[in-house]
Amino acid sequence: KFSIVIAGGGSTYTPEIILMLLDNLDRFPLRTIKLYDNDENRQNKLAKACEILIKEKDPSISFVATTNPQIAYTDVDFCLAHIRVGQLPMRELDEKIPLKYSVVGQETCGPGGIAYGMRSIAGVLENIDYMEKYSPNCWMLNYSNPAAIVAEATRRFRPHSRIINICDMPIGMENNMAKIAGLSSRKDMDVRYYGLNHFGWYTSIKDKSGYELLPKISEHVKQYGYVPSQYEYEHAKRDSWFETNLFTREIIKTDPTTIPSSYLKYYLFQDHVVNNSNIEYTRANEVMDTREKEVFSECKKIAEAGHSNGTTLKIGIHAEFIVDLAIALAYNTHERMLLIVENNGAIANLQDDAMVEIPCIVGKDGYEPLSIGNIPLFQKGLIEQQLAVEKLVVEAWAEHSYQKLWQALTLSKTVPSATIAKKILDDFIEVNKDYWPEL
Ligand code: G6P
Ligand code: MN
Repeated sequence: KFSIVIAGGGSTYTPEIILMLLDNLDRFPLRTIKLYDNDENRQNKLAKACEILIKEKDPSISFVATTNPQIAYTDVDFCLAHIRVGQLPMRELDEKIPLKYSVVGQETCGPGGIAYGMRSIAGVLENIDYMEKYSPNCWMLNYSNPAAIVAEATRRFRPHSRIINICDMPIGMENNMAKIAGLSSRKDMDVRYYGLNHFGWYTSIKDKSGYELLPKISEHVKQYGYVPSQYEYEHAKRDSWFETNLFTREIIKTDPTTIPSSYLKYYLFQDHVVNNSNIEYTRANEVMDTREKEVFSECKKIAEAGHSNGTTLKIGIHAEFIVDLAIALAYNTHERMLLIVENNGAIANLQDDAMVEIPCIVGKDGYEPLSIGNIPLFQKGLIEQQLAVEKLVVEAWAEHSYQKLWQALTLSKTVPSATIAKKILDDFIEVNKDYWPEL
C-alpha cells in the first residue's frame, strides 16, 4: 500500500482528488494520505471534511494535515503537487493588470502566466527539496501551474529529481474528442500530440483498431468546437466554456490537418479574447465566487455533521490521470500519457533543451518519450517564440534580471509592444514584492 502527500492541501481541488483516490483504492491501495500546505488556516477549512471522507471509505487509511514539511514528506511514495503561490487574490492581479493595457489576462497564458511563474518557481523547488530530503524515492507528480515555466525551472535547477510534470488539459480535450467520435472513453484512443504545455496540436487520434479518427473529429470541431454534440451545442448555456469551444472553430482553420489546444486562442486571437474579457470580473473572481465558496461550505457542513451524507462534493474525474500516472510508475504498466518532458530530439527540428508536451510511455523507471519527427514551420515558429518566453522567465528569476523579464513579456505573442510590456512589468513588480526575487 502506498503513502501519498498532497502538496497544496488547501486547494479547492483537494476534496475531489481525495474522493478520486478513494474511488480507485482497488487499483491504487493507500495506507496514508497527508495534506501539506503553508497556509494552515486555509487547509483547515478542508482537512476535517477530508478526514471524514477517508474514514467513511476506509478507516485503516491514516490521515494527516500538516504545515510541517518534515511530517508531510517523511515516508511518502508519491507527492501530488498542485500549489498556488499567492493564491487566488494574486491570480486576480495576474489577470487584471494586463487587461488594463488591453492585453490577455489569463492565469497561465501571456503576462499573467509570466507573473505566476515568477511566484511558483521557488515554491515548487522548495517542495522538491523537502521530498528529496525526507523521502528520496518518492515521485512528485506535479501539476502546479504555470506548468510550462515550472517544468523549465525543474529541468534547469533540479535536473535529476524524481518529478513528472503533467497537465489535465489534454484529458479534458480527449474526453470531448472521444464523445465526438462516439467512443465511451478517451482510453479507447491512441493520440499523437506535440507542443508546449497549453500550447499544442493533435496530429493523430486513432481508435484501438488503428482507424484514424482525426478527420471526423476535425469536421465536428470546425462546426461546434469541442461541444460534443449538435444537441448540446444548440442547448448549451452560452458561458465561458462554450465561448472557448467556439474559438476552437477559428483556431482549427489556421491548420485544419491538426486539432489544436483551445488555449491557442490566447496567442492567435488575442484581440478577440481581450474584447470578450471583463476587467471587473475575471476567471479568478468566478472561481472565488463559485468553486471556492461551494467547496469550503460543503467541507464545513461535513465537518459539522461528522458525515458526508448528501454532500455535493464530487469525484474529480479529470484528476483520474494522476492515479493512472502513479499506477504506471508503481506497477510498470507502460501506459501512454502526455507529459511535459525534455525534448532531446523527440521533436527533431526543435532544440533539445525545450520542455515539450508529448506522448510518453510510463513505467517503473519513469518515462520514455515517443519520437515526433519534424514539425511544420507554422507550429515551429509559434513554439520557438513561446519557448523563448518561458526560458527567459526562468533566467530572469534566477538572475534577478529586470532586463530578461522585460524581454520575456516583449516576446510574448500576447503583448503588442515593448512599451506595453514595460508598463505591465512595472505594475507586476509593485504587487509581487512578497513573492518575486528583487529585480
Ligand atoms: C485547466 C488547465 C489548468 C488550469 C485550469 C484552470 O484544467 O489545464 O492548468 O489551471 O484549467 O481552471 P480554473 O477553473 O481554475 O480556471
Ligand atoms: Mn494545465
